[in-house]
Order: sequence, then C-alpha cells, then structure tokens
Amino acid sequence: MKIVRSLSELRSAVRELPRPLGFVPTMGYFHEGHLSLMRASRKENRSTAVSLYVNPMQFGPQEDLTRYPRDEARDRRLAEEEGVDLLFIPTDEEMYPPEGRIPGSLQRTRVQVEGLSSIWEGASRPGHFDGVATVVLKLFHLVQPDVAYFGQKDYQQALVIRTLVRDLDVPVDIRVLPTVREPDGLAMSSRNAYLSPEERKAAPRLYQALRLGEDLIRKGERDPQAVIWQMESFLSKEPLCRLDYVTVADPETLLVPAEIRLPVVLLGAAWFGQARLIDNLIVR
Ligand code: PAF
Repeated sequence: MKIVRSLSELRSAVRELPRPLGFVPTMGYFHEGHLSLMRASRKENRSTAVSLYVNPMQFGPQEDLTRYPRDEARDRRLAEEEGVDLLFIPTDEEMYPPEGRIPGSLQRTRVQVEGLSSIWEGASRPGHFDGVATVVLKLFHLVQPDVAYFGQKDYQQALVIRTLVRDLDVPVDIRVLPTVREPDGLAMSSRNAYLSPEERKAAPRLYQALRLGEDLIRKGERDPQAVIWQMESFLSKEPLCRLDYVTVADPETLLVPAEIRLPVVLLGAAWFGQARLIDNLIVR
C-alpha cells in the first residue's frame, strides 16, 4: 500500500493505478462500516484509493473537530489488511493552503447543494454540507475515481453528494452501501467512541425509534405527524437521550410528505452525552 501526503504525490500515484479505480473518502478511525466500503471497492475495481482526512470545513466552531477520534497507525494497518492500494493522508496546509493563495481564510470557494444542505442535519449543523460537498469535490478532482463509496448511515450526505455529482456532471459513479450495525442495532460510527458505558447501552434507542416508526407505517399509519410523535415519545423515555430531530421524509427531497406513500426515509439525530449520533431507515 502506498501512502501519500501531498497533492503532487497523489496526482502521480493515481496515474499509475490500474482502472477502474474505486475511492473511499473517510475521516479515519476506521470501523466495520469503512472496511465494508473498502471491501466493496476492492471487489468491484482493479484498484482502491482511500482518503483519511478530518476536514475542518465541515465542522462548526463549537463542534468536535479537535477531539474527533484519530489513530493513524491503526487505520494504516487496517487499510493495508483490506488490500487498499493507495492511502491519501493530507495535512490541512495541503488541502487548504493558508498563505499565498488566500491569506487568513481556509478557502473562498464553497460548494452548496441548495435546499438539501439546509434541512435536518444542515439546520442543526449550518455550513456542514457545504464543507462536505467542497472537500468531496476537491477529492474527486484529485483522485479522479471511476466509482466512489459512501455509507447509508449518512443518508443526507449521500444525497447531497449524488446531487452534486449529477448537477456538476462529475464523471464518477456513486455507490451507497448499507449501514453496518453493532449486534444491538447501533449504527457503527467513529463518534461511538465518545459514549460512556451507560450511554452506549442507551444509544441503540435511536435505531429502535426508527424501527418503531417503520412498524407503524407497515401496519398502515399514513399520517407522518403521528409516526413522528410516536418516535419522539419513545425517545423521550430514555433519560440519557437528548433528541435533536426524528422525522419521516421523502427519500429524494427530504421534505415531510402530507401523507405517507412508500418509499419514505426515517431520519433521526440525538445526543447521548458528548456524542451526537445520527441514523436512518428506508421504508420501501
Ligand atoms: O463521511 C465522512 O467521513 C465525511 O463526511 C467525508 C465524506 C469523508 C468528507 O469529509
């Protein structure tokens, strides 16, 4: 596995990789979710590149950028074991050169996917998806993959990226793979590392709430507000859970429909202690 840290090294390393090239953008601290994306890329392409970069542009000023879990040595080992060909680990200076080009600012250009970027996760984390869209587009330009892999756990992110790729004619296929879960249903996430043992026990409640919503819909409930209310009330019974939002939405627009017609997506975000967790479930 080749490890590169600079943009120039990356450009020449990428030219040498046999096509098709699969790409898995990550922020590191790998778990089974990341590894499942790498495995899919390995299976479906002749080479696989992975980026490991905690992108400051997608974090708000009060968010967890500085304490985001990191373990580069372990990530390198795991990527190597998965047969990854190229691991790109840039510094902030490489990705967003501070002086010379744009003194005092990270970068002037921001990519915004209107509408989709400002609801749900975007409403709770203003600017988050602009940061994601910008860095992902930069990475696509640098790596020039044929296929890029994302997890369904970040449902809204995947939709933002699909839309960006469609609108800007980016020549890359986007594959979104199922959320990998712990045996008790908790979606795997690097942020699960923040949970205390008590919070860890309580955290699967978010997924259970979504399952409850799914059950109600399957039994014939067609009023989104009724489903939302039941999910909220279920979550409010867990004292360690501080709900941000839980909703029923159209899978493409993410708007709450007047009446439920399948498919819909159930989306939720909640705090358990210092960990803000998100999850979703598509009801087809
Ligand atoms: O999902 C993530 O880990 C990040 O948002 C991504 C796509 C790597 C962009 O920084």
